[in-house]
Amino acid sequence: MAPAETAVGTSEAYTGESFDLAFYLAKSKQLDVSDLDWDSVRDHPVSAAEIRCLGYMMDIEAHTLCYLRDVLNADAGADPEIADFLGCWLYEESYHGRAIERFVRAAGVERSIAVCGQHVKSLSERLEDLGTWIVSRLFAKQFVTVYMTWGSIQEHSTLFGYTNMARQTKNPVLAELLRRIAREESRHFGFYYYKACQGLKASALTRFMVGWLLRHFWTPVGEGVKPKLETDFLLANIFAGDEGAAAIERIDKTMARLPGLSWFDLMGRRHCEALERRRLGIVAPVPA
Ligand SMILES: [Fe+2]
Ligand SMILES: [Fe+2]
Repeated sequence: MAPAETAVGTSEAYTGESFDLAFYLAKSKQLDVSDLDWDSVRDHPVSAAEIRCLGYMMDIEAHTLCYLRDVLNADAGADPEIADFLGCWLYEESYHGRAIERFVRAAGVERSIAVCGQHVKSLSERLEDLGTWIVSRLFAKQFVTVYMTWGSIQEHSTLFGYTNMARQTKNPVLAELLRRIAREESRHFGFYYYKACQGLKASALTRFMVGWLLRHFWTPVGEGVKPKLETDFLLANIFAGDEGAAAIERIDKTMARLPGLSWFDLMGRRHCEALERRRLGIVAPVPA
């Protein structure tokens, strides 16, 4: 089986040693949801928690454009493989957000997708951007691997998030939609993991920088764009129970297989934080 044809919710086929980019580019296309039974969405339950999580996810899928801007600022486009990948990746991600938005509307909730460029940055966010830009220009090669490693954590957790949610939901249309998105997230993960692995293998300085930056700055997908307590809600719901904990452990173990990252446990730590805050009653207010 070609790596790009991994089953839904799995990432075992990806070792970081290779990625069939030509196959991925040839197969990349708009997510096809035309055959889903959209009219039947309301015939099945959709919980308020699911709608809240889907709202978070569709906004963050749309935020891919802003992440791409940051990646390109680090000169990632100078790598021909990354340049080829990013165009298809952005195209696919934008359709994920639209497909989720369509589901939310079909479920009877009027909620538009956020536009990432509309966020007005605070002074501290601007200063952080400036600092990141300066460091990324000084250490361009290392920084590309920072983004590739960061991206592989985010793609992997997104893959498991969609897979878990598909398993949990009582709505068959949502389950099928999420399984289809997860299939594409699996390929995205494969590419990022491959590039991260190659970059980390190549240099001790890169391994040091990636490790240091992840330890000090990494946050789960969407945190920062969304309030921390909203990310808590997502983590506690999507990665609930024993299956959720097992998925979190698998994400950490997969990342820990990368050169220099044997210590990696950040998803587990952040998941525990979210559960602990919830236990203490520190939770985000329910959206109006
Ligand atoms: Fe996506
Ligand atoms: Fe993705």
